[in-house]
Order: sequence, then structure tokens, then C-alpha cells
Amino acid sequence: MSGTDRLRRLTARDIAARKGATPIVCLTAYTAPMARALDPHVDLMLVGDSVGMVLYGMETTLGVTLDMMTAHGAAVARGSQRACVVVDLPFGSYQESPRQAFAASAQVLRETGCHAVKLEGGAEMADTIGFLTARGVPVLAHVGLTPQSVQVMGGYRTQGRESGEVERIREDARAVADAGAFAVVIEGVVERVAKQVTRDIGVPTIGIGASAACDGQILVTEDMLAFPGSRKPKFVKRYADLSGEIDAAVRGYAEDVRARRFPDTAHVFDPDPEGGAE
Ligand code: KIV
Repeated sequence: MSGTDRLRRLTARDIAARKGATPIVCLTAYTAPMARALDPHVDLMLVGDSVGMVLYGMETTLGVTLDMMTAHGAAVARGSQRACVVVDLPFGSYQESPRQAFAASAQVLRETGCHAVKLEGGAEMADTIGFLTARGVPVLAHVGLTPQSVQVMGGYRTQGRESGEVERIREDARAVADAGAFAVVIEGVVERVAKQVTRDIGVPTIGIGASAACDGQILVTEDMLAFPGSRKPKFVKRYADLSGEIDAAVRGYAEDVRARRFPDTAHVFDPDPEGGAE
């Protein structure tokens, strides 16, 4: 990769062109500092509505609003230079009609500077995806386990194990790809289904809990870094233990403050030569 390539912003078209090539590296980001840390390494950053659970302590993603997504999307777009930034449309902002979805997408694209939106759903969202892409909105689709439908799914259950589910997931993926999605997130499906879907469709599949058969991978960054309060489902591999590091650092700070070891002379303006603490 040349120096110029490193700074060229990846677009939805670049991501689509990676079908069957080098796997696409994706992670979630909600803030500018995290975007800065991820940008040199990832192809796509998703400002996921998981922000509601990860940063706001919500039980599900259903309480996330378009204004929350817009604020976090803008922060991530400001903090990144190269990755394609995709913002989730939150529950209730797009399911009613293609026009509602366009209004939500227009707000997100206009106010964040991001490059595409993501929405959940299969065949039932195909018309909406067609409507958006025909009007200039690149769409990342999301099938399989769709967390915004947790109430009808009755929990976060692995998809593709029960009869009928395999064909439904394959049909969903084909429908959203045919409608114009530039890539499809497949979440929480058994490996056999991920393989079939990846073979079935002409755009990249991006897996989360869907095996290495997919054209790319995504994880919630806080989960793979083991942030305090993060989740560790079977499909998450931990690449750091930030929870442990933060605990040790804060314990050290608390001990230093209580023992008056902090602040020491290196952290004081014009330290008194006779010493600080009485
Ligand atoms: O909201 C999110 O972070 C997501 C990913 C987990 C795919 O949808």
C-alpha cells in the first residue's frame, strides 16, 4: 500500500469490490479518540447502535435515537481519515416506509459526514434498500440475528439451527444484495449458513459470530478489548484486557492520592522547596 493510498478514504464501492479478496477488517467506533486508534488498521468503521448498550448502559438497542447516532457518527467521521464510516439507522427511524428511511439517512449523511448507513432486515427491507440506493445512499444490510428485532426473536439466539431458518436467511441475504446493498452483515449464524450465503451473493458478507467463511469480520471493539462491562459471547476473541489495565491504573491512582504520593513535584506548578503536604 502506498502513502497516497493510506490517506485515500475508502468508499462503499471499494468495500463492495473486495468480494472474495483480502478479508475486510471492520470494527465498531462511537467516539473520535477510538476512531483515531482504529483508523490505521481497519477498512470500515461502524457507528453501531450497540452504542446504546456499550456506552449508555441500555439493556437493548431499542432506546437509541437518530440524534444519538448522528452525534456519535459525526465524532467518528471527524476522528478518521481513511476508513469507510457507516452509521446504523436506529430502531423506528426507517422501518415504516422507504421515505422515512430516506429522511433518516439524509439526516445522518448530512450531519455526520459518514459514507453509508446500515439497516437491519431481510426481504422485507428490499424495497427500502432499492429506494435508498437509487437516491444516492449506500446501504450496508444486516441479516441473521438482528438485535432490533429482539422482542420478536425472543432473545439473542443463534440463527440457522432450526428448520426453515436456513432458507429464510439465504433468501434475506439474496433479497438485500439484489436490492443494491454494497455489503451484508451476517450476525450470529452457524458456519454452514455463512458459507452458503457468502457463495450465494455477489457482494461481500461481513460476519459477526458467523465464522471465517465471510468476506470480512466485525466485532464490537469494546468486547474484543475487554472494556469494563463488555460482553464475551463465544464468537468474541479478546485481544487485550483493558478492564484489568484500567482497574490496576485506577487502584494505583487511588493509593497514591491517599498516601499523598500524587501529585509529586513533577506534577506541581512552582513546587514549594519546603515540601507540599503539611
Ligand atoms: O450495532 C452494532 O454494533 C452492530 C454490529 C455488532 C454489527 O450492528
